[in-house]
Amino acid sequence: MKIAVSRKEHFNAAHRLYNPDWNDEKNFQVFGKCSNPHFHGHNYELIVTLIGEPNHETGYVYDMKLLSDIIKENIISLFDHKNLNLDTVYFKNLNPTAENIALVVWRILRQKIENEFELKVKLYETERNFVEYPAH
Ligand code: NI
Repeated sequence: MKIAVSRKEHFNAAHRLYNPDWNDEKNFQVFGKCSNPHFHGHNYELIVTLIGEPNHETGYVYDMKLLSDIIKENIISLFDHKNLNLDTVYFKNLNPTAENIALVVWRILRQKIENEFELKVKLYETERNFVEYPAH
C-alpha cells in the first residue's frame, strides 16, 4: 500500500537560457526574453514527492519536517536569491531550463533520500509552466 507524500518549497533565482553554440540572434529566436543577456528572475515553486509505505509505528511515509530540512539544506540554500548560471556549479555548462533544474534537484535529493522511497520532483517556473521528473 504505497502512498505519495509531498512537500512544497520556494526559491527565487535568476537565469539566462543560452546555447553557447549559437549566436545571440539565434539564442533570442529560440529562448526569447529568457535569453536576455542581463538575466531575469523567476519565483520557483518546488514540489518534492516521496512514495513509500507508511511506517507501521508512526503511520508516516516520511517525516515532513525532515524532508523540508533536507530540501532547504541541499537545494534552497544553494539556489535561493542566486544567479543559477553564475553562482552555482550546476549550470556552468548546462542550460538552466526548468527541465534541467528539476533534473539537478532530483539528482541531489536522490543521494539524500533512502532508496526505499520513490522520488519525484515537480518544478513550477511560472504558475502556468511546470515540469516533472521522472516523467512517469
Ligand atoms: Ni526564464
